[in-house]
Amino acid sequence: MSPRRNPADMAMNIVLLGVVSLVCLAFNGALVSGERSFSIDYTNNCFLKDGKPFQYISGSIHYSRIPQYYWRDRLLKMYMAGLNAVQVYVPWNFHESVQGVYSFTGDRDLVHFLDLANQTGLLVILRPGPYICAEWEMGGLPAWLLQKPNIILRSSDPDYSQAVSNWLAVLLPKVKPWLYTNGGNIITVQVENEYGSYFACDYNYMRQLQTLFHFFLGKTTVLFTTDGNTDKEMTCGSLEGLYATVDFGTDTNITEAFKRQRRFEPRGPLVNSEFYTGWLDHWGDWHAAVNTQNVTRMLGHMLAIGANVNMYMFEGGTNFGYWNGADHDNGFRSVVTSYDYDAPLSEAGDPTEKLLAIRDVIKQFRDIPLGPMPPATPKFAYGFVTLTKVGNISGLLDTISPTGPVLSQYPLTFEEMKQYYGYMLYRTTLPRELAEPTPLISPLNGVHDRAYVSVNGVFQGLLQRDTALVMNVTGKQGDIIDIIVENMGRVNFGSKINDYKGILSNLILGRDVLTDWKIYPLGIDGAIAAGWPHSGRQHSLPVPQKEPSAGPTFYMGTLPPNGLAWDTFLRLYHWTKGQVWINGVNLGRYWPARGPQQTLYVPGPLISTTEPNNITVLELERAPIYLRVLFMDRPQLNGTAEKS
Ligand SMILES: *[C@@H]1O[C@H](CO)[C@@H](O)[C@H](O)[C@H]1NC(C)=O
Ligand SMILES: *[C@@H]1O[C@H](CO)[C@@H](O)[C@H](O)[C@H]1NC(C)=O
Ligand SMILES: *[C@@H]1O[C@H](CO)[C@@H](O)[C@H](O)[C@H]1NC(C)=O
Ligand SMILES: *[C@@H]1O[C@H](CO)[C@@H](O)[C@H](O)[C@H]1NC(C)=O
Ligand SMILES: *[C@@H]1O[C@H](CO)[C@@H](O)[C@H](O)[C@H]1NC(C)=O
Ligand SMILES: *[C@@H]1O[C@H](CO)[C@@H](O)[C@H](O)[C@H]1NC(C)=O
Ligand SMILES: *[C@@H]1O[C@H](CO)[C@@H](O)[C@H](O)[C@H]1NC(C)=O
Repeated sequence: MSPRRNPADMAMNIVLLGVVSLVCLAFNGALVSGERSFSIDYTNNCFLKDGKPFQYISGSIHYSRIPQYYWRDRLLKMYMAGLNAVQVYVPWNFHESVQGVYSFTGDRDLVHFLDLANQTGLLVILRPGPYICAEWEMGGLPAWLLQKPNIILRSSDPDYSQAVSNWLAVLLPKVKPWLYTNGGNIITVQVENEYGSYFACDYNYMRQLQTLFHFFLGKTTVLFTTDGNTDKEMTCGSLEGLYATVDFGTDTNITEAFKRQRRFEPRGPLVNSEFYTGWLDHWGDWHAAVNTQNVTRMLGHMLAIGANVNMYMFEGGTNFGYWNGADHDNGFRSVVTSYDYDAPLSEAGDPTEKLLAIRDVIKQFRDIPLGPMPPATPKFAYGFVTLTKVGNISGLLDTISPTGPVLSQYPLTFEEMKQYYGYMLYRTTLPRELAEPTPLISPLNGVHDRAYVSVNGVFQGLLQRDTALVMNVTGKQGDIIDIIVENMGRVNFGSKINDYKGILSNLILGRDVLTDWKIYPLGIDGAIAAGWPHSGRQHSLPVPQKEPSAGPTFYMGTLPPNGLAWDTFLRLYHWTKGQVWINGVNLGRYWPARGPQQTLYVPGPLISTTEPNNITVLELERAPIYLRVLFMDRPQLNGTAEKS
């Protein structure tokens, strides 16, 4: 989806039924052969499944945002809500984070997900990209593409095209057996995503993709495009041979929206590929909400005219680790860790009133499965855990930067360092005595995205992309200046998706350009996954500090096992901003000071019933006086310390 909202205009009206010709409802079926088939009927304006008219009622779910353990539970709830299909993105960078190294196991086991959906009785609308947006890091593109300077992503740029062909040659053969016509459940496959919203408008690129999809999936597979609901987007996003569909939410006039689809597809099924049940949150927003009545009213109208509808999202899930994306319209804004989306199933996969209301609408149009909706998974309030200080990043480099620094006269980007995610340390020395506060400036706005600055171990402040390009520093000639840079997630939408991270242009301190850097790649996740900092510390826990230090610092604690491994929500009340891990798994970023998200979802399967549960916190700015965190039995996604 894309971060645009059309100006609110009106709800639905009855005129609609007259304007958009009814589709499929009066179809007198052709002879039905015994073969599995899925196609478009341009005469009767509908999809045909096994020769019979077919209308999908679908919901989006992203396996990359849900632990594998819960896939079956979420799919079953979607099935019990009356859906007959799910819509699924494949994030390229989730499967090929390192060029040429593919992962399709565990939480990345796409085929297992397709199998579970099939077992549940759900068809699949597959969205393999290669670009997906999805508020996902770089819109699903791997950051290693940026190693080619000035690469034109999402175009027929030869290096981009080559990487795409290599990827699709790995991915598409895996999904081919799951096409409906081959005995699986994939009915339609999207090519690219909202391409018309991108500046390039490169038809050669879309043709190349079409050729690849045809080559790997065969020419009879129904391929489609999806675009925002404007003529410009539809023009650049659609291509002859790819069925053009639209996406829109409750602020849009259905008649107008489908009239636009009709201009590009005079015949065939009406399709809203992304009907927004909710919306995303950026840090600093309030938690988004889309009114349930508006959702159900519009859903009812669309289904009544025979349209095919996919609800985006039906189950949003979580941006674990570093997987959140960002927008760049009026400045850089990154997406929060929760992808709850105010969707019918909550972030933790629990049924909401919106879900039940949607099920009631669907009931009017198709027989829905008998039996009760599976209940919410149990939640547990494990309570407070006290943490102790481990040390600051600068003092722990032997552990978290085992490769040591790269020396460079000028700063290198994350991409040049081949460390694509997380945090990196840039170290140099003060070129002269700075007795008075002296400005440290990022003149070209080259700090992507946030830099935590200390001199000789004393935290001095931070620089931030777009909003804080100068801060003051004091110190003596030769003092060590450490700048820890956080990558807050790459832009996932629009023309600024070449979003290099780190220090992109020289920093100026007083009258000097800072040079002669030691740049330390930080392998924090690797160290934590290997047991640090808990291993070997059972008998020598550091003494709690009276004054917690400022600047990027690690803290650790343990939650004793109590025999339960239930879902819970971790609240870092009075902590400022950082990253948190439990038992080696990166739960994501927290920033309660900014909000709106106050708690992090902790899936039950991460919790051990027998071993001490190891919590590690990297606080980037300022820890609270009482070094403790709280495990609660409910989420809080709509608060802020700053605003309230
Ligand atoms: C939606 O658009 C149609 C056709 O342009 C118009 O007649 C109708 O009044 C609009 N609906 C609402 C609720 O404004
Ligand atoms: C999908 O499910 C159907 C119906 O249960 C089954 O007949 C088919 O073999 C399954 N397909 C695959 C690829 O497992
Ligand atoms: C429902 O949608 C209409 C049209 O976009 C909007 O004016 C109205 O405020 C919405 N209602 C609620 C409660 O959000
Ligand atoms: C979040 O809080 C704000 C401010 O109190 C409120 O306007 C908004 O409706 C809330 N959002 C949700 C989803 O409850
Ligand atoms: C960071 O750790 C180093 C080494 O333990 C120490 O010398 C320094 O004072 C610490 N800095 C802060 C801000 O606590
Ligand atoms: C830096 O220090 C100077 C002199 O004390 C002060 O005027 C200025 O506001 C400070 N700038 C920042 C960004 O803190
Ligand atoms: C937590 O760390 C301790 C010490 O390394 C280890 O013995 C224990 O197994 C870890 N707990 C879990 C759940 O991995």
